[in-house]
Amino acid sequence: MRRLGRAGVALGVAIALGAVCAGDAARLAPPAVAQPSFTPGAPGVGDRYLPEAGNGGYDVHHYDLQLRYDPGSGQLDGHEVITAVATQNLSRFDLDFGRLAISALTVNGTGARWSKAGQELVITPSAGLRTGRRFSVDVRYAGQPGTGPDAKTVDTGFIRSRTGAVAVDEPTGAEDWYPVNDHPRDKASYTFAITVPAGVTAVANGVLEGTQATGNNETTWRWHEDAPMASYLATVAIGRYRVQTGPGNLFIAVADTLPPAKVDAVLARTPEIVQFLAGMFGPFPFDSLGGIVPAEPRITYALETQTRPVYGSTFFDRDNATTVLAHELTHQWFGDSVSLHDWRDIWLNEGFATYGQWMWDEHTGQGSMRDHFEEYYGKTDVWDPPPGDPGPDKLFAPSVYVRGAMTLQALRMTVGDATFFRILRAWADGHRYGTGTTSEFIDLAARLGGGSVRGLLNTWLYSPGRPPHP
Ligand code: ARG
Ligand code: ZN
Repeated sequence: MRRLGRAGVALGVAIALGAVCAGDAARLAPPAVAQPSFTPGAPGVGDRYLPEAGNGGYDVHHYDLQLRYDPGSGQLDGHEVITAVATQNLSRFDLDFGRLAISALTVNGTGARWSKAGQELVITPSAGLRTGRRFSVDVRYAGQPGTGPDAKTVDTGFIRSRTGAVAVDEPTGAEDWYPVNDHPRDKASYTFAITVPAGVTAVANGVLEGTQATGNNETTWRWHEDAPMASYLATVAIGRYRVQTGPGNLFIAVADTLPPAKVDAVLARTPEIVQFLAGMFGPFPFDSLGGIVPAEPRITYALETQTRPVYGSTFFDRDNATTVLAHELTHQWFGDSVSLHDWRDIWLNEGFATYGQWMWDEHTGQGSMRDHFEEYYGKTDVWDPPPGDPGPDKLFAPSVYVRGAMTLQALRMTVGDATFFRILRAWADGHRYGTGTTSEFIDLAARLGGGSVRGLLNTWLYSPGRPPHP
């Protein structure tokens, strides 16, 4: 629609000029060419659960992050260049950014006005940005991000410890450490250049392009993730790590204070688990792989950071620790490659990842899919809230994980194995590197699995309480 609109304006100009040439030019006023109007981009992307998350009016293509971090002081110095394309004529636009101090900000190389209102960084460029045009934002900032080492608890964000830091950002922690369009609807490629004291490792997503001594007794680590990545899946992990590398840009980092036999040995099975999952879901979507285990005890969960999940160290106290790897690695297909269009659809991440985890459990003799399903079907506490609409405060409720995975198993029991895996592969393939919604998934399942599937999925996803046994 906008392209047609522009063409229409151009045509109008041509006709007006033609009229001027043919007529009495001297007596005619200059043709009135309608000036496009420029309006502010929306302060939120339109998410039903997180109305302030992300922003409207542009589409980020790339984040270039140059970071210097000093574990001793917790000081982060950032220089970010965002490349984006306007999707409307913008008089101004927002980024999401926490409380680090901005020292300089330009748009297309020219100084821009900016102000902060809560998490919104409101940027007014010196001239309006035309729809369809590429623009760049260059920001320099500094401070001590996120949560310091003395914090008692932590959920998400940039987490500082005495010897390093790690960023785990679901759903909106990214704005702790870089200005961002903080919603999975706007995925982008990333480059990271992270400068840390010599001897300290700095891990991020994607391919390690190299390390370089700065001469200042520091090292710069350069990483590149080319595949589109949701903002919460970007990570940096800084500290003293043991590293394992291997084919396929494998890079595994385990905090050097953790026991190798319990942790490194489990992480080393990452390629094997990915291969097993690829047999069900189709080709692994990314060109690098690995995992990160920080020693930070406040990280009590795992996160599917793209290509390189972060695992809380306590998972490795247990015997079957590979089950958490299977969960986060399944997310690489479901969550990372196929991302949420809306946080309400979180079961498309967590239900699917739990399903992949159960498949791996079955494969390793830890109970069949059927066993998992029947065990939970007998329980009373896994049903609410229904996973299709858990509410913004219950994004990670057990029902989203367990009943979400049971929803897929109920679908499988209804359509049979062949059709079920055809649906999962079509979902991974059809939305690769993009986003998907629950209604798109239901449409796909009904197209491949028959119309009756629609009612089944609606009940399993949206009705309170235990659904009928499939
Ligand atoms: N997505 C993570 C997982 O794989 C869970 C993240 C929990 N996030 C949080 N803010 N508590 O299970
Ligand atoms: Zn998960």
